[in-house]
Amino acid sequence: MKKRDLISKRVRDISPSGIRKFFDLLASMEDVISLGVGEPDFVTPWNIREAGIYSLEKGYTTYTSNYGLLELREELAHYLKARYGLDYDPQSELLITVGVSEGVDLAMRAILDPGDEILVHDPGYVSYMPCTILAGGIFVPVPTTIEDDFKVKAKDIERRITPRTKAILLGYPNNPTGAVMDREELVKIAEVAQRHNLLVISDEVYDRLVYGVEHTSLPSLPGMKERTILLSGFSKAYAMTGWRIGYAAAGEEIIEAMVKIHQYTMLCAPIMGQMAAIEALKTGGTQVEEMVAEYDKRRRIMVQGLNDIGLTCFEPRGAFYTFPSIKSTGLSSEDFAERLLLEDKVAVVPGSTFGQCGEGHVRCCYATSLAEIEEALERMGRFVKRHRSI
Ligand SMILES: Cc1ncc(COP(=O)(O)O)c(C=O)c1O
Repeated sequence: MKKRDLISKRVRDISPSGIRKFFDLLASMEDVISLGVGEPDFVTPWNIREAGIYSLEKGYTTYTSNYGLLELREELAHYLKARYGLDYDPQSELLITVGVSEGVDLAMRAILDPGDEILVHDPGYVSYMPCTILAGGIFVPVPTTIEDDFKVKAKDIERRITPRTKAILLGYPNNPTGAVMDREELVKIAEVAQRHNLLVISDEVYDRLVYGVEHTSLPSLPGMKERTILLSGFSKAYAMTGWRIGYAAAGEEIIEAMVKIHQYTMLCAPIMGQMAAIEALKTGGTQVEEMVAEYDKRRRIMVQGLNDIGLTCFEPRGAFYTFPSIKSTGLSSEDFAERLLLEDKVAVVPGSTFGQCGEGHVRCCYATSLAEIEEALERMGRFVKRHRSI
């Protein structure tokens, strides 16, 4: 048997994440400033960590219900009602997942049959395409452009609908661009979904990280709760990436299908993380606001700084990323990122990692200290001066 044949065609066809290559390189270097990793530089707030410690002290070290702790689902139902006016039954319409990462996988596998198409904005988060392929679906990119601040348009979605289209996936506030959708356009997308009887997977993991604009939760729009799988979690807003807690909210039939997969693959999310998440929902609100205010400060400095050094940058209103254009250097986004890392020791992620429409841009994460951001901007300024082509 040839070695190649050991691995399934589906897995062979998936390319490894472009982000990983840079982090392998980065790990072998010293004095690098990383604007690469998409995670908060804050430690999980103390009271939330304490809840995790308490769970261990009390000996809560068991499995939970496949759906997750009922207390957490109840807190979540209150939270979604208070924040977005959403009504989910904690018994049957909420599922606690191992991060939003698992939620994306479960949602795809629960709804896609082989050959079903899913429409996804380009650029978008790196896991959307591989999860589609692993579920046997067909990933159909919907281009977005800097001219539209990377917001996906209902008419561009509708144009790509075929008889095989099953769902639309929206990931806003967006990774990698920082774009936030306007309510008006979301209403139009909701109408498209209803007109063509499509489901929508809405990844709202950055819902709390918005600056001067409002995030509209897709299932809160009229007629959308029943056709939306809402995915969100604790990683970004509460600085809890390592706890691996996310959730899915949807109609009973869909949640039941997702639980079917989850119970055989994950069984349940870790109990300590679930107990910490209860505390986050109960008392973490102020801490989220403090972190958001800090990100906002850094966001403004980074956007201004990038524009000043000649990397044109539209104003991102959400998440914690800027997505400047690197066209003035004439380099591809891969070359730009690799050379910047090797020559001036700043790590950014090539825009092409997130889809074809990401080419010509790099992703810079500002969830890092102001001092590091300022030093990174200095270094990038020197790099751009040396490589300016136009
Ligand atoms: C858009 C988006 N969705 C999902 C995830 C995964 O989040 P989690 O840590 O909850 O698995 C990320 C992480 O970067 C993300 O950016």
